[in-house]
Amino acid sequence: MGHFRSSGSGMKQAEHGLSEVAVRVDGVTLGYGDRVVLESIDLGIGKGEIVAILGGSGCGKSTLLKAMIGLLPPVAGSIALGGRVITGPDREEALASARKKIGVLFQSGALMGSLSLAENVALPIQELTALSPDLITDIVHLKLEMVGLTGFETLLPAELSGGMRKRAALARAMALDPEILFCDEPSAGLDPVTSAELDELLLELNRALHITMVLVTHELPSIEAVSDRCIMLDGKSRGIIAMGTPEDLRSEAADPRVRAFFHRQARPGG
Ligand SMILES: Nc1ncnc2c1ncn2[C@@H]1O[C@H](COP(=O)(O)OP(=O)(O)O)[C@@H](O)[C@H]1O
Ligand SMILES: [Mg+2]
Repeated sequence: MGHFRSSGSGMKQAEHGLSEVAVRVDGVTLGYGDRVVLESIDLGIGKGEIVAILGGSGCGKSTLLKAMIGLLPPVAGSIALGGRVITGPDREEALASARKKIGVLFQSGALMGSLSLAENVALPIQELTALSPDLITDIVHLKLEMVGLTGFETLLPAELSGGMRKRAALARAMALDPEILFCDEPSAGLDPVTSAELDELLLELNRALHITMVLVTHELPSIEAVSDRCIMLDGKSRGIIAMGTPEDLRSEAADPRVRAFFHRQARPGG
């Protein structure tokens, strides 16, 4: 699969160039109170691209993701989604419009425990659209089918396996047909087989629907299986220390921190 992705990604990058940018991060500094976590970050993510954000624990991966979805205003710099700046003076309005175009899969999955799967997936559609209940039911069925959960509509999250909960959360994140999907450690807590299935599902959605995906992860098998491009953050330097295809970073990275990351664990089955 690694080889398939690597030839595919070269073509994709040439196709979208820089005029088709899904996410643009310009000179962004992020922090909490007096503490600066990331400094002067510049980053463009092309439409349809799958980008993995990696780096050690506490280096600022989730912080960068939070800023990209508008949950953490930057200390400096600007962020644009689909060409629209979400950090400027009309921030509230820009975010309201951006929320309909992005889906977010948080680490915990964060399904509502007292609601059925169908009700969980319906939630964002009810909140952000004026569609009729019948139409919402149809969309919910479609989304659950997309992630292989047809027949489980009435179950509560607690009645599902971890992998199924993750897929349900993905169905919910996809409820409004997002142009960009943000995932924070989507395979956290899953066994390797279930995690590989989730990766495959993300890849299918990317291929079929051309959704741009930004995945925070530190799992090397996932990174190599799904990402077109990786961005490696480092806590000490508060910035990006490497950027490129997983193959490039594995074989060519001069930086010892990058080498250490890509060679620390062997991929099962080569
Ligand atoms: N809400 C917060 N308030 C204060 N500090 C935070 C908050 N969230 C994260 N941090 C700090 O910012 C740094 C980066 O955190 P985070 O982005 O969660 O790292 P990662 O996702 O790469 O593990 C860490 O040192 C963390 O302790
Ligand atoms: Mg995190």
